[in-house]
Amino acid sequence: MPIDFNNKTQQFHIHNEFISYIMYVLPNGELGHLYFGQRLPEGRDYTYQKTNMNHVLKAYTADDDSYLCLEDTLQELPVYGRGDYRGESLRIKYEDGSYINKFTYKEHYVYDGIKQHTLVSMPHVHDEKKCGMTTLEVILLDSYRQVEVSLFYILSAKTAAISRHMEIRNLSSARVVIEQCASLNLDLNEASYDLLQLDGAWSRERHPSIRTLDTGVTSFSSIRGSSSANHNPFFALLSEHVTEDLGDCIGIALIYSGNFNARIEINQYKQTRAQIGINENGFHWNLESGECFETPQAVVSFSQNGLNGLSQNMHRFIDYHILPTPKRDEPYVLINNWEATYFDFDEKKIVEIATEASQLGMDLFVLDDGWFVGRDSDRSALGDWFVNKDKLPEGLAGLSRKIKALGIDFGLWIEPEMTNIESILYKEHPDWVIHHPAYPMSVGRHQYVLDYSRVEVVDTIYERISACLVEGKVDYVKWDMNRLISEPYSSHLSPDQQGELFHRHILGVYDLYNRLVSAFPHILFESCASGGGRFDLGLLYFAPQTWTSDDTDPVERLYIQNGTSYLYPLATMGSHVAADINHQTLRKTSLSYRSDVALFGTYGYEMDVTLLSDDEKNIIKKQIIFFKKHWDLIHKGSFYRLESPVIPSKKNVNDLLSWMVVSEDKKQAMVGVYQILTKPSPNVQRIYLRGLDPKGEYIETATNSFYSGAELMTFGYVLDDFYTGIASDLHDKLGKSQQIFGHGDFTSKIIVLSMKEE
Ligand code: DGJ
Repeated sequence: MPIDFNNKTQQFHIHNEFISYIMYVLPNGELGHLYFGQRLPEGRDYTYQKTNMNHVLKAYTADDDSYLCLEDTLQELPVYGRGDYRGESLRIKYEDGSYINKFTYKEHYVYDGIKQHTLVSMPHVHDEKKCGMTTLEVILLDSYRQVEVSLFYILSAKTAAISRHMEIRNLSSARVVIEQCASLNLDLNEASYDLLQLDGAWSRERHPSIRTLDTGVTSFSSIRGSSSANHNPFFALLSEHVTEDLGDCIGIALIYSGNFNARIEINQYKQTRAQIGINENGFHWNLESGECFETPQAVVSFSQNGLNGLSQNMHRFIDYHILPTPKRDEPYVLINNWEATYFDFDEKKIVEIATEASQLGMDLFVLDDGWFVGRDSDRSALGDWFVNKDKLPEGLAGLSRKIKALGIDFGLWIEPEMTNIESILYKEHPDWVIHHPAYPMSVGRHQYVLDYSRVEVVDTIYERISACLVEGKVDYVKWDMNRLISEPYSSHLSPDQQGELFHRHILGVYDLYNRLVSAFPHILFESCASGGGRFDLGLLYFAPQTWTSDDTDPVERLYIQNGTSYLYPLATMGSHVAADINHQTLRKTSLSYRSDVALFGTYGYEMDVTLLSDDEKNIIKKQIIFFKKHWDLIHKGSFYRLESPVIPSKKNVNDLLSWMVVSEDKKQAMVGVYQILTKPSPNVQRIYLRGLDPKGEYIETATNSFYSGAELMTFGYVLDDFYTGIASDLHDKLGKSQQIFGHGDFTSKIIVLSMKEE
């Protein structure tokens, strides 16, 4: 049984072959935490492992048990006002104006599988791949207030991860107001952690930063209405000396796409409290008598094998328990017309691009922004999802027919959460926009956010969008979202409900996703928010891939995809080969470099392929064949960061970044090595591979060279290709469109290895 309860010691031990999560009922009835980490033997009592000490100047829970002070007791549901002066995980305001709570253990249930969610529209862990999951529900009651909380722990049998969330039920006859509710609260005995988080901005998303935590509170959050490009709802706590491959780390991520808060507090006794949940700023929820509120779920994972181990745990968890069952379990390569045409296209141009793309071996054409009436720039028409017959005389149906006649699929861009003032929708329903009537409306990209807390808004957009998807026989949807919420106010909600707006809005977004995904089960959804502005586990539940960034420059993408990989699997990262010169950075790079970077993602193209030379077309044909041949390995293998700028290895003396994927059976592997800036008089550089079978004999396909797995991992793979200033025929070679690894800035090398069969 993966969940043990010892009646005598009142200890819960949640475990699988990788991890243990241990908690117990405290002497005063509240739920204490004991341990989270590497698997510990089951059937043992760990409650002797005290977490607190008798100190002066503390508030004790009772006179007869002076050791129980909540201030340094590790807890599962810390609350406000009873002697724990750290941040609470649940704060409820009562009719009398107080916030005090005492939740004590009432009962618990263990369910085989996942306990049915109350709020079915919210993204949540699933077990469609039948890995095996077990749910523990611990019910705690505040008998003074008649408010009940269920803490849910859902354990995956096959990954080192647990999801946690809570339900709050109002059993009293009066309304109570939830002001804060962290999905996960993890109290830890130690405080010697570094914090890794993923920060950024538009076009520079998920750049990791690492800082040492010290006494006090460290937090980051979003109040933008979406998870945001600025901070991702994820962090990792790294014990001392953690590297990509060694050391203990804990990762925590929220399965949610709206405002969130991550908060890590270290107290004066060197204990750590880590929390993640809905951002309490701008939030409150009225819980009427008899009502229940469910928080989003959070996932927590532990690894002893450094950050690569943690990422692999998370990748596996996301693959098994978050992503929808794949619509197509086969390689496909898409082409998107955004950077090729922007708004300036007609049917002829689109069909030309699609025709060329199909001849190059691509499988899906995606028509981006600009296909509906009035949409010739980003100033107008969002919300009016009526086809522009000037651009597409035969409508979506006609265009789709022509594209499908080429033997490829048809995809469509939408941005359903928005409108422009210049639109029929806004003229008919100005109150459907989130704004406060007393204030001027702030604007972003000339557009405004529709109030998805109103079901009639979701209904209308659903009708309009689904008509387009039906007409165009659409196979793929790129769901964009290009601005943040300001003046958060809904004319539809009562004054005391305004604090519910952000959460209700994102629930409305999930509602539309649910409806579209159910009505069009064959459609593959890719989410996008000005690139990767809403790359989170909430949306991955509906849309299994996300446009990682609007930045298609391969050098920037190296950093962005590298940062993204700390939590998200390669198969979720939208990656395209774009035109030269790059539109975001104006940097020039070779076609091979651009492709080698995009290879570690979903892979596609975003350029006007009709303008390519024959040479370039031949290269692209080979790139597509190569990607399709290795798709299975890239999307399903285990991913390793070999040389990452986040924890730079001293062995990287030549400004390289390097990634690797290894198949589950360790028989296939691929390594990408990327030179960023060339260094003069380079050193001999080795790359130390990971995850191979040390006893296996591997052949490098391109050179027919043989290596043992042990040799590649411990002696290293020698990159002997660096330019030293002496090469004779270099300049002739560099004149060609093919690059040579190590000979100049932005060159790359892909190494393919297969294990020799016995
Ligand atoms: C922002 C997206 O990130 C781009 O890829 C493109 O779809 C534009 N929006 C279209 O307006």
